[in-house]
Amino acid sequence: MKKIFALFLAAGLFVILSGFYNDGDPWDVPAKYKSMKNPTSADDGDCKDVGKSLYDKHCKSCHGSEGFGDGKKAGEIDTPMPDLTTDDFKKEVDGVKYYQSFIGRKDMPNFEKKITSEEDRWCVINYINAL
Ligand code: HEC
Repeated sequence: MKKIFALFLAAGLFVILSGFYNDGDPWDVPAKYKSMKNPTSADDGDCKDVGKSLYDKHCKSCHGSEGFGDGKKAGEIDTPMPDLTTDDFKKEVDGVKYYQSFIGRKDMPNFEKKITSEEDRWCVINYINAL
């Protein structure tokens, strides 16, 4: 009887923990990032070009050329690759995308040292918004 109880307990714990640690975890974005305003204009073509070249250099290998999450490296990563073209992602505020893109977490690398210009970073956001 005790064994069966332990088994149920272990199964219950597993369900609870995997619920907490699943890969669809919402991002915990600090308020100071959430409220950041994108100082660039989405219509600025030069900025979008800068964004594209940085995206192709740093992001495409995992996120794929169109943002579907089907880049070359996607298969080597444990975390499922998110799709950057969904409506849910599109409607997220730019500050959240900034945090996800440049601070990152787990398998999403930090890019603060690789993309240092604040303006360039926002151009990358404009570019992914247009994917
Ligand atoms: C090494 C592979 C890799 C590279 C390179 C990479 N990413 Fe990611 N990215 C990921 C993974 C994996 C996740 C999901 C992380 C998670 O949910 O914990 C992610 C998540 C994101 C998200 C959040 C999307 C969502 O809806 O959850 C954004 C935005 C993002 N990446 C932007 C970028 C940008 C911009 C670059 C380039 C500057 C980049 N990524 C480079 C692997 C990568």
